[in-house]
Amino acid sequence: MALIETDRLILRDFTLDDAAFVLNLVNEPSWLENIGDKNVHNLQDAEDYILNGPMKSYQENGYGLYMAELKLKSVPVGMCGLVKRDFFVEPDVGFAFLPEYWGLGFASESAKAVLEFARDELSIDRVLGITNIDNRGSMRVLEKIGLKYDKIVDLPGYQEQSRLFIPK
Ligand SMILES: CC(C)(COP(=O)(O)OP(=O)(O)OC[C@H]1O[C@@H](n2cnc3c(N)ncnc32)[C@H](O)[C@@H]1OP(=O)(O)O)[C@@H](O)C(=O)NCCC(=O)NCCS
Repeated sequence: MALIETDRLILRDFTLDDAAFVLNLVNEPSWLENIGDKNVHNLQDAEDYILNGPMKSYQENGYGLYMAELKLKSVPVGMCGLVKRDFFVEPDVGFAFLPEYWGLGFASESAKAVLEFARDELSIDRVLGITNIDNRGSMRVLEKIGLKYDKIVDLPGYQEQSRLFIPK
C-alpha cells in the first residue's frame, strides 16, 4: 500500500469508499476538457472506475493514481500518482484537483512527492509527463517538478495531439 506524505497532503491508495469524491472530480469541466470523459455517471460507475483504473494498476504495476487528502483534516482534494500506458515503457505522472483547491501548490507538491516515491520506493528513475496541447497549468506543474518539454505526440486512442515531457 502506498502512503506518501508531503507537508500538507497525504497520498494513499483509493478504496471503493472514495466513489462519491471520484464521481465529483471526474465530472469537473476541467477534468472533462483536459483528461477526458470517463463515462462515470453514478456511484456504481465511480466504483467501477476505481476498480478498473487505480486498483487494477496497483495489482498490475505496483503503483497507480492515489487519493490526495489534506493531512490535517482528511479532506479529499484531488488525485495524483503514476499511470502506465501501453505505448510507453515508463509511467507518467498524473494529477487533478478540485477547482476550489487550485493555485495553492497542491499539484506540484504532490507530483514532486510522487516522483520521489517512484525513485526511492519503486526504483523508477524515469517518469514522463503528458498534457493536452494547451494545458498551461499542467505544463507548469511538470516544469516545476523537473521535467522538460520534449515534443508533440499523437497518442493511440487520443483524438487530439499531446505534449510529452521527459526528465531533464
Ligand atoms: C493543472 C492542475 C492540476 C494544477 O493544479 P494546482 O494545484 O493549481 O497547481 P499548482 O498550484 O501546483 O501550480 C503550479 C504552477 O502552475 C501554475 N498554474 C496553475 N494553473 C495554471 C493555469 N491554468 N495557467 C497557467 N499557470 C498555471 C501556477 O501558477 C504555478 O506556477 P508558479 O509556481 O510559477 O506560480 C489543476 O488545474 C487541475 O486539476 N486541472 C484539471 C485536471 C488536469 O488538467 N490535470 C492535468 C492533466 S495532464
